[in-house]
Amino acid sequence: MRTLAHVSDLHFGAVDPAVVAALEADLAAVAPDLVVVSGDLTQRGRRREFRAARAFLDRLDRPVLVVPGNHDVPGFNLAVRFLRPYRRFSRHITSDLFPLVTDDEMAVLGLNTARRLVRHWNWALGSINRRQLARATNDLAAHGGNRVRIIVTHHPAVLPPGHRDGRMLFHAERALSSFAASRVDLLLSGHLHRTHAAVSAVPAARPGAPAWSMIVAQAGSATSTRLRDEANGYNVIRLGARPPRLEVDTRAWTGAGFEAVSTQAFDRADGHWAVSRDSAAR
Ligand SMILES: [Fe+2]
Ligand SMILES: [Fe+2]
Repeated sequence: MRTLAHVSDLHFGAVDPAVVAALEADLAAVAPDLVVVSGDLTQRGRRREFRAARAFLDRLDRPVLVVPGNHDVPGFNLAVRFLRPYRRFSRHITSDLFPLVTDDEMAVLGLNTARRLVRHWNWALGSINRRQLARATNDLAAHGGNRVRIIVTHHPAVLPPGHRDGRMLFHAERALSSFAASRVDLLLSGHLHRTHAAVSAVPAARPGAPAWSMIVAQAGSATSTRLRDEANGYNVIRLGARPPRLEVDTRAWTGAGFEAVSTQAFDRADGHWAVSRDSAAR
């Protein structure tokens, strides 16, 4: 059994300090094996925002795995943005843009989808390239074994139902095929400031082969004051090994603290993930 806290879109520079303090207290009580932070640690990629994010991570005093988000690439200073887009993130948070955490039960790999520039007017969109996918394939082949395989990106490859703003991640289809071939169990992402967890069926690369099902889970914004019709929140993910079971608890800010507001459970049968019958009956 492993417990992950999936925290996203902190946006230091535009946070409510009371929410940050409550989040720290809640994470201390949950005591996860790993805290996954799926990007947008800062609001505008400023140094003081990165320092605040670093201090927050240090105060957690837990193992962390962090990927950058589009807000962590400085947007106002074009020289920094184009010449060294990840310098501040690397200096303050981590220089490892392929963070990998493995233990007996899980293999968690982070991939950076934030870009200095994408082929679109909206540079907030993300992209994932062949080099990253090749690296993910190799890492999962080497370290996946019987472990639950988890990929972390800032931008979601699978969009939640009702999403109307168009694609968020260039080359998402290619990425999903690659993740399916590597038998990825769980994709974690943020960016939308919206909580969501579901099973997603990825068509097989080979014609006639069955689709691969993986769980996609989005965390909302943990601490940002700029919200999109959803309270601050984060997810606690519990991985059970035998039988394989994965639960996603959403914990949301109530004004006084973080409390569990929903749970979804998924079971794996014949190698494929599906919504748990207990969960569907709820
Ligand atoms: Fe964000
Ligand atoms: Fe974002």
